[in-house]
Amino acid sequence: MRGPQVPEYIRKLAVYIPGKPIEEVERELGMSDIVKLASNENPLGPSPKAVAAVKAALPTLHRYPDGSGYALRKALAARHGVDIEQVILGAGSVEIIEMLARAFMADGDEAVFSQQSFVSYLLAVNQVNGRAVTMPATSGRGHDLPALARAVGDRTKLIFLANPCNPTGTYFSRAALDRFLAEVGDRALVVMDEAYHDYVARSDFPDAIDDVKAGRHVMVLRTFSKVYGLAGLRIGYGIASRDVIATVNRVRSPFNTSSLAQAAALAAIDDADWVRGSREHNLRELDFLQGELERKGVPFTPSVTNFVLVEFWSNIGELFLEFQKRGVIIRPVGGPGLVNCGRVSVGTHAENVRFLAALDELVPARAGA
Ligand SMILES: Cc1ncc(COP(=O)(O)O)c(C=O)c1O
Repeated sequence: MRGPQVPEYIRKLAVYIPGKPIEEVERELGMSDIVKLASNENPLGPSPKAVAAVKAALPTLHRYPDGSGYALRKALAARHGVDIEQVILGAGSVEIIEMLARAFMADGDEAVFSQQSFVSYLLAVNQVNGRAVTMPATSGRGHDLPALARAVGDRTKLIFLANPCNPTGTYFSRAALDRFLAEVGDRALVVMDEAYHDYVARSDFPDAIDDVKAGRHVMVLRTFSKVYGLAGLRIGYGIASRDVIATVNRVRSPFNTSSLAQAAALAAIDDADWVRGSREHNLRELDFLQGELERKGVPFTPSVTNFVLVEFWSNIGELFLEFQKRGVIIRPVGGPGLVNCGRVSVGTHAENVRFLAALDELVPARAGA
């Protein structure tokens, strides 16, 4: 039987391959104590305030959620000092990335981003038959902002900048962002993807919500999936001008964020203790992990966030399986300049020790030489 005709650009789409769920690996290997360091989640768990809010919201599950997420948007607007009309919610910030591509890009329009950045930009652009214009990263695996600015052309509608960047763990400074924004002006919407901004402890790290407030053509994306520990609920948000938000709202599906996710996020933004504790844990353990990698002579890209990009010594596909056999799931990454690289999330101390023990078993003598 012949199915419906599928457009060429849809047939060519690659399916996103997420980090393997723990349960799947445990089933495959017959193990029960697998450590997952593959998706940059909060290893300490969800914000307890969010968990309590979810429990309290359970009796109203038969109702549709507030489609616009009024209460959460109001709280986020107050938190960031913007108007409620400048805030949009998404089922994770990934959904907002996809909405942006649908809202701003027609066939053949372009989006510019760094080759070594978040894979969802490419997927979102391909889904709307847009053209991805990518620029190589710098030698230190950072965004090459001057090259990205030069790549902006007449058909460029969006520029995606992940700061800090996944999978590299690098960041760029306020001064670098100012230069970039001055260069690009209003020619394309600059999407500042700040999924990991809570983890960064650098005084020159920019908060691009300031740029939205200054009237620059910028949209900021944030998520509850990382420091707040709510990845399973799928909730994130975007902040931009009223016009940009109104445009993105045109392509938003009516009830895109669930009532439980909204309730959890609303409680989580007030859980300052959880954020502080999670951040402190991360800084301590990131330091430990990077120190140990250095001691073992295993090269990595210095990170400002909750994961480290490690340059392994041989085929990452095979090494991934070897780590898995030892009960540790890491995330292989590929693409230009990332041969045999893997991303390792910062876990609990015990999880990090587990990863390092597996590494010790696998690392060839020459890597430490
Ligand atoms: C750079 C970056 N942006 C956005 C996201 C999306 O997160 P979520 O859709 O869970 O909000 C991620 C998730 O890993 C990420 O690494």
